[in-house]
Amino acid sequence: MLNFAIIGFGGLGKVHFRNLKEVMKVEKDINLVAICDVEESAFTSQVQMNISTENAHLDVSKYKFYKDAEEMFDKEQLDFVITALPTYLHAPIAIMAMERGIHVFSEKPMAVNEEQAQAMLDASKKNNVKLLIGQCIRYFPSYNAVKKLVETEEYGKVRFANFVRWSMLPRWSWQNWFVDEKKSGGVVLDLHVHDLDYISHVFGKPKSVYTKSSRNSVDHDTIATLFNYDGMVVTASSTWGMQLKYPFTAEFTVAFERATVELKRDKLMIYTETEARELEAPHEEFGLPSDDGYVNEMIDFIECIKNDTVSKINPPEASKLTVDIAYAEKQSAVEGREVEIL
Ligand SMILES: NC(=O)c1ccc[n+]([C@@H]2O[C@H](COP(=O)([O-])OP(=O)(O)OC[C@H]3O[C@@H](n4cnc5c(N)ncnc54)[C@H](O)[C@@H]3O)[C@@H](O)[C@H]2O)c1
Repeated sequence: MLNFAIIGFGGLGKVHFRNLKEVMKVEKDINLVAICDVEESAFTSQVQMNISTENAHLDVSKYKFYKDAEEMFDKEQLDFVITALPTYLHAPIAIMAMERGIHVFSEKPMAVNEEQAQAMLDASKKNNVKLLIGQCIRYFPSYNAVKKLVETEEYGKVRFANFVRWSMLPRWSWQNWFVDEKKSGGVVLDLHVHDLDYISHVFGKPKSVYTKSSRNSVDHDTIATLFNYDGMVVTASSTWGMQLKYPFTAEFTVAFERATVELKRDKLMIYTETEARELEAPHEEFGLPSDDGYVNEMIDFIECIKNDTVSKINPPEASKLTVDIAYAEKQSAVEGREVEIL
């Protein structure tokens, strides 16, 4: 039996808690022991986020509560933790856990800067524990469908790809940490990081990036990046500038030589010279059972612990590269020039 705790019980901590039912259909030998959050109110309050509308009461009465992670580590025998903390706390709490031999699933982005991301990687290696970052897009079937077509070249090579991720300003967060760029990394590290991570997952490391940014309500809350690859045009845009009532939007268009695949309003379509049809996403492409990326990533993490392996889908080195590229994009936006990815 693997004993675990959730640290950070705000928006995403509650998403992971809700998903445990699905995760445990596959991973039957895991046991949630405790939940940790600095705010006592987090155990009873609900959070209305951009990605989740479910607002049902959560029954947490079976679990121990802690307000301090270190105290919980001292008192409980934990095999792993799921952390969903404000981004600037990812590294310190993950490293504290790993130093005690506890495996860590830590939400995206890996860390608020490159140094902290490197320190997390080092701690995982030094202590021989698993570290998996919640870059969940790698686990969603619709995105995997495109990855498969890129690899097989069934419809030829990619000519261009465009990704969008548009949201309202995240106003639900604890102490409003999202809107402080030093704490969240701003829209590049928080929102756009999903597409950026997927782009490097599918197309490899870009040679360089060129980013423009503008201000709506906070600095650089709207960005667009041109990723430099040979033979294709890859772009992505993200904003926190949408109105409260504008639906959260995460979409893409990938144009191959003989087909275009598009995710729009949660519908995955393929268009060729002769047909326009819905494309079936390969749910079990990687032996992962769910159409929910959050469930799949957790199963992948637990399998890595049980089999003493590193995830083939989402190794922590890839998450570190994603943070590096995000910083190159920020540098490009500030300096108004193309920045090479070394
Ligand atoms: N994968 C995704 O799709 C996705 C979506 C949203 C957020 N996230 C990530 O999840 C993380 C959390 O985001 P959120 O929206 O849940 O934020 P949030 O502000 O709603 O929740 C953070 C929680 O951490 C608690 N906390 C703060 N300091 C703590 C400490 N020292 N110890 C224990 N608890 C502490 C807060 O009280 C709060 O309940 C962020 O890194 C964010 O980037 C991921």
